[in-house]
Amino acid sequence: MPSRTVLVVEDEKRALDPIVKCLRHMRYRVVTCGSAAEVMGALVRHRPSAVLLDLKLPDKDGVTVLKEIKGAFETIPVIIITGAGTVSHAVECLQSGAFDFLEKPLDFTHLQNTLHNAIVLHELQEQAHRRPSPESYTFHDIIGISPQMQSVYRIISNVAQSDATVFITGDSGTGKELVARAVHKRSKRSHGPFIAVNCAAIPRDLLESELFGHEKGAFTGAISRHEGCCEAANGGTLFLDEICDMSADIQVKLLRFLQDRTFQRVGGTETLTADVRLIAATNKDPEREVERGTFREDFYYRLMVVPVHLQPVRERAGDLPLLATHFLKTFAEQNKKTFTGFSQEAMVAILNYPWPGNVRELENVIERVVVLHEGPTVTLTHLAPEIVHYRRQREPAPDSAHQTLSLSEIVKDAIRDALESSEGDVSAAAKKLDLPEDTVREKAGEYGLDTTS
Ligand SMILES: Nc1ncnc2c1ncn2[C@@H]1O[C@H](COP(=O)(O)OP(=O)(O)OP(=O)(O)O)[C@@H](O)[C@H]1O
Ligand SMILES: [Mg+2]
Repeated sequence: MPSRTVLVVEDEKRALDPIVKCLRHMRYRVVTCGSAAEVMGALVRHRPSAVLLDLKLPDKDGVTVLKEIKGAFETIPVIIITGAGTVSHAVECLQSGAFDFLEKPLDFTHLQNTLHNAIVLHELQEQAHRRPSPESYTFHDIIGISPQMQSVYRIISNVAQSDATVFITGDSGTGKELVARAVHKRSKRSHGPFIAVNCAAIPRDLLESELFGHEKGAFTGAISRHEGCCEAANGGTLFLDEICDMSADIQVKLLRFLQDRTFQRVGGTETLTADVRLIAATNKDPEREVERGTFREDFYYRLMVVPVHLQPVRERAGDLPLLATHFLKTFAEQNKKTFTGFSQEAMVAILNYPWPGNVRELENVIERVVVLHEGPTVTLTHLAPEIVHYRRQREPAPDSAHQTLSLSEIVKDAIRDALESSEGDVSAAAKKLDLPEDTVREKAGEYGLDTTS
């Protein structure tokens, strides 16, 4: 990360000095305030990327300062540091928009992780909300602002006008078909047909006839002449999906088609031609398929004119807030729901989950949330346990010497304990915690804890 400014609000020099030293060591620019009165001026002057706020200040209560900061600069992440982390304070800070809650003495590894997460999340959210020039974050129907997607947009723009064969690789759900359609839309063939053939879905013995057509009587059941996809795509684009899943003899026939755009219908003798741009895709590693002998090397090199590789979505985390927000908006409109955004914790969980099913999985998860729940905010309780739990497993183990838990964990543990010891009675638990009943009920709902009242 390039140098970012962190504002530290702390009146005790003994506590301040090691924090400043540590932050400088982490290569942050550090600005300090010893009182609440200086905070607003410092925020305006230095525009910090994050604030570390001591809860006990000489001139004002820290929670009030937190509320003032969030009131004026809603998106700046504020991390609370305190000597005595009581539960009611933690809840109040959470409700007032604190990013996290660290207890003194600070564990500097934990501080470093928390600060890093706060700043990364803050910048990703800013990025998603900012409206960059449309070209940079969407390209036809493709969404993504990461450098990897920008380079995909560039490749598509550069080759779309030619007739060069494009070979798209990438895991399932990374958007290969979307890219193929974008190449077509961007090309001079955009008014012609776009014909997609899923080579894995068609039984091997029917694929040849599907691609090249057949003459009447070519095989049992061939009651009339049939036009294949190559002919149907004439003047347009033929998209061959799952290309590694075809038999060797079809590969040979397609190789010929690639070389001179000629083919014969099954059962026919006439040599036909079609003016077609070919795009192929696979979620396998084609080089490995060549090594295994299932994919012909000459065919592979014919296809590999313009390779486009789509990275798994976990490798381009910068796209996640943008994609998630896009799907939320789309499905909310479709289902007439009020969803407008994600809670900070839900977004952190989304960013941390590895998304093995890539964009398709994210799309499905968001659709399910919108259909099953009510808005306006997607919270952790709306997300499936495997997504939420993944986040838990990856959280760094708390340092046993000075255990620092995240704010939400402090709150959740306390509310769960109180509810368990009062057999789910919200009013009794609220009394134990010295918190309003509504807060306990709301938090119990958010964290999926059982209540009886
Ligand atoms: N960058 C993106 N922006 C918006 N939507 C996307 C993006 N990538 C994928 N999608 C959506 O995710 C879903 C899966 O995309 P697509 O079908 O193109 O993936 P694929 O790589 O062809 O997957 P498979 O290998 O399983 O066929 C589609 O609904 C698509 O619209
Ligand atoms: Mg596909």
